[in-house]
Amino acid sequence: MKVKSGDRAFYFGDGVYEVVRIYDGRFFTLDEHADRLMRSAEEVMIKGLEREEIIEILHEIKERNGITDGALYIQVSRGIAPRDHGFPDGSKPVIYASIRSSKRPEQQMESGVRAVTTEDYRWLKCHVKSLNLLANVMEKQHAVENGAKETIMHRDGVVTEGSSTNVFMVKNGILFTHPADNLILNGITRLEVLKLAEENDIPFREEGFTVSDMSEADEVFYTSTTQEITPVINIDGRKVGDGSVGGTTRRLQSFFNKKITELISVKQS
Ligand code: PDD
Repeated sequence: MKVKSGDRAFYFGDGVYEVVRIYDGRFFTLDEHADRLMRSAEEVMIKGLEREEIIEILHEIKERNGITDGALYIQVSRGIAPRDHGFPDGSKPVIYASIRSSKRPEQQMESGVRAVTTEDYRWLKCHVKSLNLLANVMEKQHAVENGAKETIMHRDGVVTEGSSTNVFMVKNGILFTHPADNLILNGITRLEVLKLAEENDIPFREEGFTVSDMSEADEVFYTSTTQEITPVINIDGRKVGDGSVGGTTRRLQSFFNKKITELISVKQS
């Protein structure tokens, strides 16, 4: 890959992106990802992006590479111009996309993972899927260095999300997750989980909860396009619930699996 000199993605992280999952040659929730990419671009005033073109590129990359199970990455930068913070006049968005094969994280979905918590020190537009991920990268590394898979972030004690995931807890049979405001990315997987909860009569609340509430939760899990529904069985060295994967998490995982099975059993048009 060549990075064009002057691309504002390179200088400033001035752009937005998406990661879309492919199961057995089919895109999962493609429309939702395309819509969010357009919304992110709009939020940061990147103009001249066509939704249809994005969809076409995604299909083309998938077909050309013949990858049946994996993830497609697409980023859109504001364009190419001499380095200057202000928006350049007349620059056109630069689209870059890549694809790679990957397996579902079966083992960690089965056994659960460890997480750690830290202060969320990101900016206040976390609903934008921005290329600027330095804080998220630092937060993830914090997990790696502490023998964990994910860092769960909080603002003044209220859990926002993971460094690259959304976080849920279950307490007395009720599912809780942070509301979709400017402090979190409204994950496509998060929305799928809420839909599945609704369809299957699992009560849920989009309501902030604290690190202290989470330490008394019966179950905790996180979600993302690549991590699906991953149970968290230990946070900051303390067991979540009895330290095993909980029943609500298992039910949601099985409903999610069913969605994937349905997707791959439908003939592609
Ligand atoms: N990350 N929150 C953050 C900060 C994220 O970066 C992500 C996704 C999510 C989950 O969103 P979704 O369910 O739409 O994937 C929540 C992607 C996968 C990444 O950066 O690789």
